[in-house]
Amino acid sequence: MRILSGIQPSGKLHIGNYLGMIKSMVEYQEKDELFCFIANMHGLTTLFDGSQMRENINEALIGLLALGIDTEKSILWVQSDIAEVAELTWYLGTVTPMGLLQRCHSYKDKVARNIPASSGLFTYPVLMAADILLYSSNIIPVGQDQKQHVEVTRDIAIKFNAVYGDILTIPEAEIQEEIAVIPGTDGQKMSKSYNNTIEIFAPEKELRRKIMSIVTDSASVEEPKDPDANNVFLLYKLFASLEDTDAMAEKFRRGGYGYGEAKKELFNLLMDYFGPYRKKREEIVADPSYVEEVRKKGAEKARNIASELIGKVRKAIGMI
Ligand code: ADP
Ligand code: TRP
Repeated sequence: MRILSGIQPSGKLHIGNYLGMIKSMVEYQEKDELFCFIANMHGLTTLFDGSQMRENINEALIGLLALGIDTEKSILWVQSDIAEVAELTWYLGTVTPMGLLQRCHSYKDKVARNIPASSGLFTYPVLMAADILLYSSNIIPVGQDQKQHVEVTRDIAIKFNAVYGDILTIPEAEIQEEIAVIPGTDGQKMSKSYNNTIEIFAPEKELRRKIMSIVTDSASVEEPKDPDANNVFLLYKLFASLEDTDAMAEKFRRGGYGYGEAKKELFNLLMDYFGPYRKKREEIVADPSYVEEVRKKGAEKARNIASELIGKVRKAIGMI
């Protein structure tokens, strides 16, 4: 099985990215072929600052390596290093009905949030389809918000195959149902664009501040509370053992247990959980030539696979 997913270099990695996507990717690489890339061309639809872009790409590479993406077992690359993806985007665009793209929520949501309504933003799902189809991927682990884009990819691939023959592999999205949407510090979906993220590699002080800022209701310490109705517990549950989760739920139900105390427990848990990854990141940061080498080798491996598929496509559509 070939598993593929990408992440935009639009900011610092947060625990929504980790649980929604990175964690399952790391598990996949043990038994499947894992393809993991930094979607910097997608990133261009919202980030218009070259030096910031460069820094974010590097930060994303370092973060993925620190969190366990192993380049011996999987392929890790930067999207734009394989120019064939832009070429395939054009070919796919010519068989993509406008209506398919007009139905995409993500475009409408982004425009509503004042992101410039460029044609790049509109055709974003076609580039995503090219990412997936160029590497003949079978399974796409993503958060709920990306599900529609994988469905669009399937529709485009089916259409292309109907016109030109059975060339593209039809992929399937894989959504982690139980953690489909990780809440941010304000209770909305955790997202860089909402400024409500808990960053995995934030300095300790900053991480503590973020966790202490999680919004809760104003129930007093004494009052019994419904654990499932508060964000601190919801986040704790995602990382804690069953035993510790039950213990915290019980304390909330009994009363005499305040949100402040629960936040401290959440902070300690996250420091423990991500401690080894934070240490690994420091080691990687200290060796920039290693990251450069990873990027170069990843591009070579990805290019080998991409050139085979693009060759078949060019032939089928009569470009060569
Ligand atoms: P952001 O919304 O912060 O910009 P991205 O869109 O770059 O995050 O998402 C990268 C990956 O992480 C995608 O697979 C996405 O579905 C997943 N992801 C992001 N935020 C969450 C969340 N709050 N809950 C679950 N998965 C998420
Ligand atoms: N659009 C995805 C996001 O914002 C990132 C992405 C780009 C992607 N290409 C992909 C994810 C291909 C999975 C497969 O999160």
